Amino acid sequence: MHNTIAIRLENMSKTFGHRKNRVRAVRNVTLEVQVGQVYGFLGPNGAGKSTTIRMIMNLIRPSAGEIYVYGRHVQKDHAVLRRVGALVEGAAFYHFLTGRKNLEVLARTGGYFDAARSQDLLEQVGMADRADRLVKGYSTGMKQRLGLAAALLHDPDLVILDEPTNGLDPAGIQEMRTFIRDLAQKQGKTVFLSSHLLGEVEQVCDRVAIINHGEVIREGKVADLLAAQSQLLLEVEPAVQATAVLAPRWSVAAHGKSISVLAGRQDTPAIVQMLVANDVAVYEVRSQRQSLEQFFLEVTAKQEIRE
Ligand SMILES: Nc1ncnc2c1ncn2[C@@H]1O[C@H](COP(=O)(O)OP(=O)(O)OP(=O)(O)O)[C@@H](O)[C@H]1O
Ligand SMILES: [Mg+2]
Repeated sequence: MHNTIAIRLENMSKTFGHRKNRVRAVRNVTLEVQVGQVYGFLGPNGAGKSTTIRMIMNLIRPSAGEIYVYGRHVQKDHAVLRRVGALVEGAAFYHFLTGRKNLEVLARTGGYFDAARSQDLLEQVGMADRADRLVKGYSTGMKQRLGLAAALLHDPDLVILDEPTNGLDPAGIQEMRTFIRDLAQKQGKTVFLSSHLLGEVEQVCDRVAIINHGEVIREGKVADLLAAQSQLLLEVEPAVQATAVLAPRWSVAAHGKSISVLAGRQDTPAIVQMLVANDVAVYEVRSQRQSLEQFFLEVTAKQEIRE
């Protein structure tokens, strides 16, 4: 019945601490990740991404709400997490063992050791030539790569990655992005990843939830979110009057005779009509797709003001 939904979060919340130290890290998050999707969980530092991932992995308990993975309640039925591979913040390895040996220990603990698969994964994550060095000598990026190999050892259907490109150099970031897309496209896996970089989500994900201060403030297909938040550039006179007319409904910025309005393309007729009705002369209207980066900055900035 639920087999097309890999993750379902229902009104999930997490509060840490008491009284003055109370932090509402995650607030009423509801979302669904369909099988086969690459789903982005995007938010600035402290937004609640890692907390959410730790709850999905049953590493910490939610204060409220329900978490289902492949239709199973993760707290009541944690065996379902065998179908999940995760790279969480600061993956822990044995420092005095080699990368290869670390994978072996992990795999043996889980009862799925296969030397050929380990080797194959080490090659895929670009660690084959460093696999026989001790982990204590690894850089952050190398540990991140080894962590990814570790997450994939048991060939999980769902891969959860907390900021997978952290610590990687630009070439490593590109490789990681391609790798993630291939996981979905070539291996049919579902991927849920967190990021604080919009550009990354834009390149890698099909769908995104933007989280800020523990709340999901936007959710949708990456392409749809972009289309809904285009920017209109208008040349008008007088610009001051135009700004005053539009400001109650839209975000408006004036630059000389031009004003820019953050609005969907579908709002264009209403905007022009309002201006004309208020004796503003309209000389030019252009619609410009806003970069997801700008959009992200806008929504997170607005959220901060509101609080
Ligand atoms: N164990 C904890 N005890 C108290 N507060 C916590 C705990 N873990 C997280 N928090 C708080 O919860 C909020 C969300 O933290 P979280 O680590 O989930 O954010 P994040 O989105 O992963 O951020 P980053 O991008 O920096 O990794 C923060 O305010 C953080 O300080
Ligand atoms: Mg985090």
